[in-house]
Order: sequence, then C-alpha cells, then structure tokens
Amino acid sequence: MVKKQISLIAIDGPAASGKSTVGRLLAEKLHFLYLDTGCMYRAITWAALQRGIDVADETAVTQLARNIQIDIYPARGEADGRHYTVHVDGQDITWGLRTPAVDANVSQVSSYLGVRREMVKRQRAFGQRGAVVMVGRDIGTVVMPEAPLKLYITASSAERARRRTHDRQAQGHTADYGDILADVQRRDEIDSNREHSPLRPAADAILIDSTDRSPVEIVDAIFQMLKEPVNGNR
Ligand code: CDP
Repeated sequence: MVKKQISLIAIDGPAASGKSTVGRLLAEKLHFLYLDTGCMYRAITWAALQRGIDVADETAVTQLARNIQIDIYPARGEADGRHYTVHVDGQDITWGLRTPAVDANVSQVSSYLGVRREMVKRQRAFGQRGAVVMVGRDIGTVVMPEAPLKLYITASSAERARRRTHDRQAQGHTADYGDILADVQRRDEIDSNREHSPLRPAADAILIDSTDRSPVEIVDAIFQMLKEPVNGNR
C-alpha cells in the first residue's frame, strides 16, 4: 500500500537524465496525474520561433508567455509514439516541441523571470489538484517545495546524449551524437547558472544516478521507498 500522505512528487534533473520517463511511469503506476513542465517552456519557444519573435527580446517573449494558451492532454491512442499531446492556442504542436531549433533556444526563453512567474503560476494550479507527479528543473525548489517526496535524477552527460540521440532517431530524425552532447551540456550550463530558479536539487531531495539503471528499475526503487514505514516527513 502506498503511504497516504504522499500526494505530490517532485522530480528534477538535467537534460535527458531520464526524469520524464521515470515520472511518467511512476504516475501511471500510482494513478497520479503527470506534468512535464519542460513542455511548457518548449511551447513558448516554439511559438516565439513560429511567430518571428526574437527570443533575445525578453519583453516580447514575456508578453507571449502571458497570452499563450497551452493545453496538455493525455495521449489518446495516436500511433506516433507520443506520451501526451500539447496544443498552443488550439494547434497540436506535440512534435514541434522536440526539434533542434527549440532545443537551441529553450534555455534562453526559460531564463526570463516573467516567463517563469507565469509558468510557475500555471504549474502550481495543476499541483493543487493533488495526486500529481511533476517533472522539471525547479519543481522541488520553487514550484512545489512542499512536496513530501523530491527526487533529483542525474546521469553522465555522455549517457544522456546517447539516450537523446537514440530517442530522436527513433522519432525518425537524423541526430548526431556530438551535436546532441553539445546541446545537452550547453543547456545544463545555462539552466544551472541562470539567476532565477537555477537547476539544483532541493536540500531534502533524494539523488538518483540513472547512468546504469533502467527507468523501470528506478521506478521500482521509488515505489519501494513509498511503501517504507513513515519516518519524519517521508
Ligand atoms: O527533456 P529535456 O530534459 O531535454 O528538457 P525539458 O525538460 O523538456 O526542458 C527544456 C528546457 O526547459 C530546459 O533545458 C530548461 O531550460 C527549461 N525548463 C525550466 O527552466 N524549468 C522547468 N521546470 C522545466 C524546463
């Protein structure tokens, strides 16, 4: 039996660390809602690129973030391997979020305070529904610091780039390991050193290195943690 008081699970970690897969599988197993907050920052980035808004223009990008409607739906049996569907102002942009152009610009967009405030507001509203697994960079530190279970999932950058290259190829794209490694390292650098809500584990987060472990193994380990007798806050 899962401990009753755990209704919010915060998962953070660097690019392609396996956190989204672990979060999704964990949510399925627990029958919790799942929110991958990265797709919200990606959606703004996609919309800025699409509308010809300069991603270096903080005011324009912030304005866009405030006005844009982002809807995230569970997958409904689409045959293209998606795990969820993202709409921006009613348009399905699920696969547009995973392009090299979005990868290249998303860390700049997500460094803006106004953009973060708007997204955090929406993410907290989602968290208030309870029974939620939320994944990102600042979930344990900023969005849901009250979450009783916080996980920080890492892996070596070589392994993360290998996984991301494999994912992109499986999605039918040409993907170069060296380019992806450079992108992953560049985003980690920006995400970790930005002024607002930098990527870092919460003081009470449990650190998990996924380098040599499958997502299923990690989910099983987390599930065991949830079944352990209550000690202190956990
Ligand atoms: O899947 P991957 O780890 O490559 O990235 P993601 O989780 O989709 O996040 C894309 C980008 O959004 C990150 O590199 C961060 O710049 C930003 N992000 C953020 O700032 N805060 C979050 N809670 C989630 C993502």
